[in-house]
Amino acid sequence: MYRKLLGAAAISLSVSVCAAPAPFMEASFYSQNDPFIQNYATALKDLSLSTGEKITINYAQEDLLKEYQQIELAVKNGAGVIIYNPVDPVSVHQVIALANSKDLPLIFINRQPADNQLNSYAKAWYVGTDSTQAGAYQSEILTRYCLDHPETDRNGDGEISYYLLQGQQGLSDTVYRSMSLNSSLKNSPVMFRLAGSSFADWQSDKAVSQLEAYVRKHGMANIEAVVANNDDMALGALQYLKSQGYNSGDPDKFIPIVGIDATERALAAIKAKEMIGTVKNDYAAQARAAFRLAYLAMQGKEINNSSTGYYLVNGRTVYIPYVKIYFE
Ligand code: BGC
Repeated sequence: MYRKLLGAAAISLSVSVCAAPAPFMEASFYSQNDPFIQNYATALKDLSLSTGEKITINYAQEDLLKEYQQIELAVKNGAGVIIYNPVDPVSVHQVIALANSKDLPLIFINRQPADNQLNSYAKAWYVGTDSTQAGAYQSEILTRYCLDHPETDRNGDGEISYYLLQGQQGLSDTVYRSMSLNSSLKNSPVMFRLAGSSFADWQSDKAVSQLEAYVRKHGMANIEAVVANNDDMALGALQYLKSQGYNSGDPDKFIPIVGIDATERALAAIKAKEMIGTVKNDYAAQARAAFRLAYLAMQGKEINNSSTGYYLVNGRTVYIPYVKIYFE
C-alpha cells in the first residue's frame, strides 16, 4: 500500500513537472496578405530559430475579435509576452486589460497606439518608426529627381501635379507619412501641387483601381508624379501607368513614382528604372528590437536604453530610422 502510494506520488510529481511548459512569445499580426508584415513575421521566426526562444505567430485577417481570441488562447496556453500588431490601434484597450490581468509584457509593433493607451500599462512598449521622417525623405527623393528632370512637368504649367496613395485611414503611418510629405513638398524648391489623393489601404489592387478612376475623370495630364505611403501601392500605380504606356522604356513617357518599405519587388522596379525610389522601412531591425524587448521583458529584466541597445523615446518607444533609396 505504502509503495503504491509512493508510486502514485512519484507519478503525479513527474506529471506536474512536465505540465509547466516554458513561457513562449506570442506574436499577433493584423494580416497575412501584406508583404511588409510577411517579411516582419519571417524575421521574428528566424530570430526564434537562431535563439531557441519559442514563438507562436498568428494572423488576424483584419478581424479585431479574431485577434483578441487568438491572443487570449495564447495567454491561456502559457505565453510569457505578447508582441502585438493591432488590427485597429484605436481599439487596443481589451488586449491591454488582458495583458495587465496576467501581468504580461505587451510589445506593440508597426501600428502605434495613442500615448495615453501605451502609458496606461507599465509593461507596454512600442517598436516602430517616426512616420514623419518617411514623408520628408520621399519629398527629398522626388525634389531631387524633378530638379534633374524638368521634363517631369509634362503639361508645362510650371508645377508638378502629384497623386498621393495613402494607407489605411487613421493609422499613424498613413497620417504622418502623408502630412510630412505634403508639407515638405510645399517647402521644396520645386513647385508641387496635390492633384488627387485616396486611401488604398496599403493594397496594390486598390491603388490600380483608384488611379484608374481618377484618370477616367480628370485625364493623365495632372498625373506628373505618384507618391504612395507604401511600396505595394506604388507598384499598383506602376502597373496602371504601364498599362497606359508609361514607365515602359520611352523617356518621354515617364512618371516618377516613390514608395516606402523597400520590398524586394520595389527594389527590382527601382533597379529597372520603373520607379525612382523608396524609403526603407527596416523590418529586420524592427523585428530585432521587438524580439529583444520581448525577451528581456519576459525575463522580468529592466527595460532601458542600455539593456535594449536601442534609444527609448519617453522610456517606452523605439523608433528605427528610415533609409532613403533611389537610383542615381
Ligand atoms: C508598412 C506598410 C504596411 C503597414 C501595415 C507600414 O509600416 O509600410 O507596408 O502595409 O505598415 O500596418
